[in-house]
Amino acid sequence: PGLKDVLGEDGFEHVGVAIDQRETVGRPAQLVQRHFNAFTPENDGKPAEVQPVEGQFTFGDLDALLDFADATGTQVYGHVLVWHSQTPDWFFLDGQRPLTSSPADQALLRARMEAHIKAIADHVNARYPDGDSPIWAWDVVNEVIADGDNANPHDMRDSRWFQVLGETFVDTAFRLADRYFPQQALFINDYNTEMPTKRADYLELVSSLIARGVPIDGVGHQAHVDFARPVQWLDDSLTAVEKLSARTGRPLLQAITELDVSDSKENNGADVSNGTVPQHSPAMADQDQAETELGYYYRDLFDVLRKHSGSIESVTFWGISNGRSWLRTWPAARPWESPLPFDDDLQVMPAYWGIVDPA
Ligand code: XIL
Repeated sequence: PGLKDVLGEDGFEHVGVAIDQRETVGRPAQLVQRHFNAFTPENDGKPAEVQPVEGQFTFGDLDALLDFADATGTQVYGHVLVWHSQTPDWFFLDGQRPLTSSPADQALLRARMEAHIKAIADHVNARYPDGDSPIWAWDVVNEVIADGDNANPHDMRDSRWFQVLGETFVDTAFRLADRYFPQQALFINDYNTEMPTKRADYLELVSSLIARGVPIDGVGHQAHVDFARPVQWLDDSLTAVEKLSARTGRPLLQAITELDVSDSKENNGADVSNGTVPQHSPAMADQDQAETELGYYYRDLFDVLRKHSGSIESVTFWGISNGRSWLRTWPAARPWESPLPFDDDLQVMPAYWGIVDPA
């Protein structure tokens, strides 16, 4: 069965996958249509792609994906309006001079943020004058919390957005996104949100945004996880967001935005030293065993997600097949990584059965 059919019955509205143009033709395109009802542009909506030079917008690659969405009736999760990575340096420079936190530089950076978001909205509105754009959501800000402790409030990442504008760059991004994309669900998004310390920082920030009346609709969990990371941690983070929503009376959607499961030997560079014993054997003696372990991990993970299907609006896998996973090349060549439900030949893996055959 198609993942979207199984997971749709379990109450997940959007079942998506990260793609680029390679997935819009041939067998990959068929697989997208069979298993998914949504996609996220893997790279084509990022600032570096959309506005490489100030004032010069390049929408060709994003348009190709929107054409595919239109032709197939697939929904789109927009990624990403404001980020520190894959964002050109010119955003943060005045000529050669780095922007500071002076009022004039702050005004300049805010104006650039607005121009960027507005240009994307103008483009989308020109494509869809009747307002029937396939984009249902946006990552408004991505990865704004740091991994370790630092001196910033809520351990905010010391990005150039933060250095110039302070924490309220997040508020500004949401207010602008709300002005220019009034119909779309507006998400904050981050990785390692299942890690206990980052969870606390993330929740604190979201709670301050709510207190300040910032128009945030949802909380995203990238869920780039690994075998050594107990699924209970993600469970706890999903519960924490639900409790925050109940406590503040503010509806909050949740989204699993970039799901993949890495081999525990590398751990995505994440700190897993928080004292919890891994539930899943990291002993990947051979490839078959690794695949079987992955199947069990996916089964346990989706047990958790199903418990939270009331708040989780969307589940997106970060790549259509192992051969297309970013983990094969990031942060170094790792050809053994097989983090997704479909193998290099687009055949189902044990991970697929772990999802469709719950315990
Ligand atoms: C990754 C893409 O998958 C790669 O192709 C690219 O080289 C780097 O970015 N968090 C995010 C995504 O929000 O945008 C990243 O995507 C993966 C981590």
